[in-house]
Amino acid sequence: MKIAVIGAGYVGLVTGACISEMGHTVHVIDCDPDKIAAIKAGNPPIYEKGLDELLQRNVGRSLFATSDYDTVRDSDLVFICVGTPCRDDGCADLSMVRAASQSIGKILTGCNHAPVVVVKSTVPPGTTECVVRPLVQDAAGRSDIPCAMNPEFLREGRAIRDFFHPDRIVIGSSDIACFDAVASAYQGIDAPVIRTSVPAAEMIKYVSNAFLATKISFSNEIGNICKRIGIDVYEVMKGVGMDTRISPHFLDAGVGFGGSCFPKDVTALITFADSLGEDPLILKAVIKVNENQAVRMLTLLKSRLPMIRGKKIAVLGLAFKDNTDDVRDSRAIPVIAGLVKEGALVAAFDPVANAAMAKIFPDICYCSSAAEALTGAEACLVMTEWPEFSRLEKEFDLMNSRVVIEGRRILSYRDREGVCW
Ligand code: UDX
Repeated sequence: MKIAVIGAGYVGLVTGACISEMGHTVHVIDCDPDKIAAIKAGNPPIYEKGLDELLQRNVGRSLFATSDYDTVRDSDLVFICVGTPCRDDGCADLSMVRAASQSIGKILTGCNHAPVVVVKSTVPPGTTECVVRPLVQDAAGRSDIPCAMNPEFLREGRAIRDFFHPDRIVIGSSDIACFDAVASAYQGIDAPVIRTSVPAAEMIKYVSNAFLATKISFSNEIGNICKRIGIDVYEVMKGVGMDTRISPHFLDAGVGFGGSCFPKDVTALITFADSLGEDPLILKAVIKVNENQAVRMLTLLKSRLPMIRGKKIAVLGLAFKDNTDDVRDSRAIPVIAGLVKEGALVAAFDPVANAAMAKIFPDICYCSSAAEALTGAEACLVMTEWPEFSRLEKEFDLMNSRVVIEGRRILSYRDREGVCW
């Protein structure tokens, strides 16, 4: 198939690269000339495990990058994979989705053929049918352009594995020919493919993320209760998660969830529900518990090290989780902001995210290793689960005083404590 992918970010580039690996011809379209140049040279503009190999194998053969929409004209499918960040009022910002829809429509004016326009971006229910379809069709001056919704469930750091081994493929489509066209892009992937209504597909994405975020906030709340009485929440959740109705996944307590999806998607679902006159109590509590965990980490630090002004505090792990350089909504952000506000000297280290965090906090100290961050530190906060942190042991001898607090359980070092264990 000939497939165009609009947006060369975490979702678009991974999707495009994986689809090209399956033998389709893919054009990834992005307005950022630097991203296009990097992809053309076979260099991923983002850090994602295995993406460099995929680009090197397929760029110039079955994968092409361009800022020109021309290729949409003879494509079978066009995936919209642009960002839908959270606006200040909590709604999903659809400006990039609108712009992409209009550009697709314009290029299809006077064209005999019409690709299926597939929304992959996470959008509120109703967006594909009430925003994307009319914008594409108005710009094209025709009413025969099919639209579908096909949410992604890719985890950063594991996105390529998730693409080839999904639990399910969801395709929202009101017409069977359009469903078949989208499904054939995934031919060869061994996973159930379900057809739903278009708004149900949009809702499935929001609800999946909201449910996973709820599991995390639930575990964190239980962790906070357990810590009061010296019970290990990881032991508790191990026993709880063995119940097949519950499952062991996403029960790891800690400093809370971050990233480009959970915080913004739960917030967008809350705003969407509010707009319908509903008061989503559970979803609101999920966000509140999440925000409180970072505050709890700072409170715990201050109870162990009452005076932090002028003290060196090591912060290990800056991205929102391990194996990514993505710092969007990372829990390290409120923690570092709190430390800076209290006058601490922050020594930060992440195996791949120092540069990304330097754009947010240009004035803190970035270290090239955990050992450098720990040297002379009065306390250490471990924010993410990078496997290399689990091997830290003698490096803690370099600290001035050994206050070590984890935001996720990863250290084998004995004298550490967790934010909620
Ligand atoms: C998530 C969804 O998993 C994915 O399906 C969707 O397409 C995009 O959003 P991602 O944001 O890449 O993926 O990260 P994920 O691995 O799901 O973790 C999200 C956050 O939750 C991270 O901050 C992580 O550290 C945290 N988390 C995860 C926990 O605190 N505890 C857990 O048990 C699991």
